[in-house]
Amino acid sequence: MQAIQIHGGTPLNGIIPISGSKNAALPLMTLCLLTNERFVLRNVPDLADINTMKSLLEQHGASIKTLEDKNSYELKVENLISSEAPYDLVRKMRASVLVLGPLLAKYGKAKVSLPGGCAIGTRPIDFHLKALETLGAEINLKSGYVEAKVPKHQGRLRGGHIVFPSITVGGTENAMMAASIAKGNTIIENAAREPEILDLANCLNLMGAKISGAGSSVIRIEGVEGLSGVNYSVLPDRIETGTYAIAAAITRGNLKLINTDPNLLEAVITALRISGVDIEVSDRSIDISTSRKIKGVDIQTEPYPGFPTDMQAQWMALMATADGAAMLTETIFENRFMHVPELVRFGANINVHGKSAIIRGSRDLSGAPVMATDLRASVSLVLLGLATHGTTIINRVYHLDRGYEGLEKKLESCGASIERISIK
Ligand code: EPU
Repeated sequence: MQAIQIHGGTPLNGIIPISGSKNAALPLMTLCLLTNERFVLRNVPDLADINTMKSLLEQHGASIKTLEDKNSYELKVENLISSEAPYDLVRKMRASVLVLGPLLAKYGKAKVSLPGGCAIGTRPIDFHLKALETLGAEINLKSGYVEAKVPKHQGRLRGGHIVFPSITVGGTENAMMAASIAKGNTIIENAAREPEILDLANCLNLMGAKISGAGSSVIRIEGVEGLSGVNYSVLPDRIETGTYAIAAAITRGNLKLINTDPNLLEAVITALRISGVDIEVSDRSIDISTSRKIKGVDIQTEPYPGFPTDMQAQWMALMATADGAAMLTETIFENRFMHVPELVRFGANINVHGKSAIIRGSRDLSGAPVMATDLRASVSLVLLGLATHGTTIINRVYHLDRGYEGLEKKLESCGASIERISIK
């Protein structure tokens, strides 16, 4: 088995290029199911989740070519081979359920495995299904699968009025993709406002869709007959950006993050500034430096534009090294404190009370052998490993490969002592 070994305690200094966004690229890739034309996607990060999505799309019938660089793909679906997303792939990656809307809208049927629970919560897909029913789909749950079809007499999905009971990123994406080629107009209320939703809408509009309001909580879609191919570049990864900003802060170093967009992570930048980190932003880069003490700052996770749940574990690692205490409240997922017992192994002082955790910062921490539980939890262990003296060994690194392109290389180039090792 592979593990990551870190000899920590060195401030990071240097430049880190930010990759394309995983959570934008995954739904964007499924758009190839909505057209029969050539679909080119650039700035796609080289990650395990992207490979899982490639396998899923290939088994639906997509031919996928890597273009001149490893981050650009051409995807084309001439004939659909299968409308089934099997358990083996959906179980590996929940974002597989994003094929549901496109398959249903373009081919009138889809059979997608129910994803089941995961390390951060139960994560049902009931809002996705209700939204598709509002667009006229017939849905049955059978033997662990969602079987969805458009009734014969209806021909294709029809526009409808969707009101999400609470904010869902994937649900908004599935509904938006399905409605783009439905008959008539759709309104999505209480829509997610994440930048990944806007990126998806921008790409759909270039393909000929008529979507307005994406990025706000009300999205209006005028259904069109069909969509054409496109050449599109994925937006920068705001969570990777935030993670490396914290890497600079937690090691008390200086990093310049390039190929990114500071507007995507205002809540994180604000929290960092309040904690005492110096941040300068320009159009496509962020400079992070530390000359003052870092103090405890409370945060609460919220849907965009609030503080992202995908940055909660990293913030907790930083707060474990701060002067003073901080309270973190997780409002999106019910079980997203799996990293706490692992952070405690470094000597961190953290107590969980229901949805909140109190962290009392300390400089008396040291490297430890720890276990990764999910993607963002894993990277919080890397961050604390980089900050603390001694050796940290992180087991189950496959979680990191799902979401951080070239993690060791990027960190090493800024002075980190980090390597992948084989352990029994
Ligand atoms: N929810 C329901 N029913 C639904 C859908 C969602 O109850 O039908 C609940 C979820 O259980 C959760 C909340 O609503 O408590 C929000 O879930 P959402 O649907 O917004 O999450 P998602 O689309 O499954 C995406 C990201 C996650 C990120 C969340 C929240 C992708 C591929 N994944 O998940 O990213 O945490 O939005 O911002 O875009 C990660 O990258 O590490 C990651 C987990």
